[in-house]
Amino acid sequence: MLVLGIETSCDETGVALYDTERGLIADKLHTQIGLHQPFGGVVPELSSRDHVRRCIQLVDAVLHESNLSKCALDGVAYTKGPGLIGALMVGASVAKSLSYGLGIPAVGVHHMEGHLMAVMIAESKPEYPFIALLVSGGHTQLFRVDGFGKYKLLGESVDDAAGEAFDKAAKLLGLPYPGGPQIAKLALQGNPERFSFPRPMINRPGLDFSFSGLKTHAVNAYQNSKNEPSINEDIARAFEDAVVDTLSIKCLRALKQENLRKLVMVGGVSANQKLRQTLTSLHIDDLPVEVYYPPAKFCTDNGAMIAYTGWLHLQRKLVKNLAIEVKPRLPME
Ligand code: KG4
Ligand code: ZN
Repeated sequence: MLVLGIETSCDETGVALYDTERGLIADKLHTQIGLHQPFGGVVPELSSRDHVRRCIQLVDAVLHESNLSKCALDGVAYTKGPGLIGALMVGASVAKSLSYGLGIPAVGVHHMEGHLMAVMIAESKPEYPFIALLVSGGHTQLFRVDGFGKYKLLGESVDDAAGEAFDKAAKLLGLPYPGGPQIAKLALQGNPERFSFPRPMINRPGLDFSFSGLKTHAVNAYQNSKNEPSINEDIARAFEDAVVDTLSIKCLRALKQENLRKLVMVGGVSANQKLRQTLTSLHIDDLPVEVYYPPAKFCTDNGAMIAYTGWLHLQRKLVKNLAIEVKPRLPME
């Protein structure tokens, strides 16, 4: 079964081909980072228009590169939500048109389920059950995962997502969008002793997160010492340490609560090296926690995760509904 995957939920147009026998055979991405950078964040209308320009070009490119024609496709998968409504509509419309024209099924994939399943494209993949930390620009969630489609939400952010917090802190320091990788780079030169930011909500029971307060700490630290040397590096370091520590404490708590030892981290923030190192060194009763994450290029938005997750869905059911349906807000359970 050959499945085309289309991701257009935010600021990346991703298109890929996944095949039962050959696995991932093509994967192309166009990022809109340069388009949005002058505005300091994603401008939804510009995003939709750019997806319109790129989406069909990328579909043609993955087919051409693989020496395949559209007629070889057995199904199409697209991101149905959550995301920006106009952006989602572009991928959904292209997918449904292909489905109608070629007489093949189209399946809408949950964006975060796509991120989660990206870990299964890696060479070393986890066996179920496991705990999954989903950390992106829009979500920070902990799930117990008992199988494909079997998700139990254990906790989530009550305000900003971890990626969103990185982006806002970066903006404050005058760094370009998206801020996560920029903060991570600066933090490498930062002094960990200069500022100590809180680890929000760790003293309360439960597995929810709150990251919006860390912004205030970053603002205050900046206002009090903005003309001093290394201020940006030291704030970046304190900020990254606080986010990583908080995520790590809650992951350990979730593993213990569910009596599991396997941990999966996915989504844009899972590309963060400090987070990877910290989670990889976790232990329970002196035994190491097994940690899994997707290859770096499949941590941030991409078409491969949608092609693969769509393939999983299409193997289980035939999707006949031709209505174009997208949802800006969509729970994963
Ligand atoms: O998953 P993703 O590509 O898009 C969403 O679904 O939101 O995640 C994007 C987020 C952005 O907030 C970005 O700043 C963050 O992931 N991010 C990082 C790193 N790379 C991307 N945050 C921290 N460290 C990184 N290395
Ligand atoms: Zn994403």
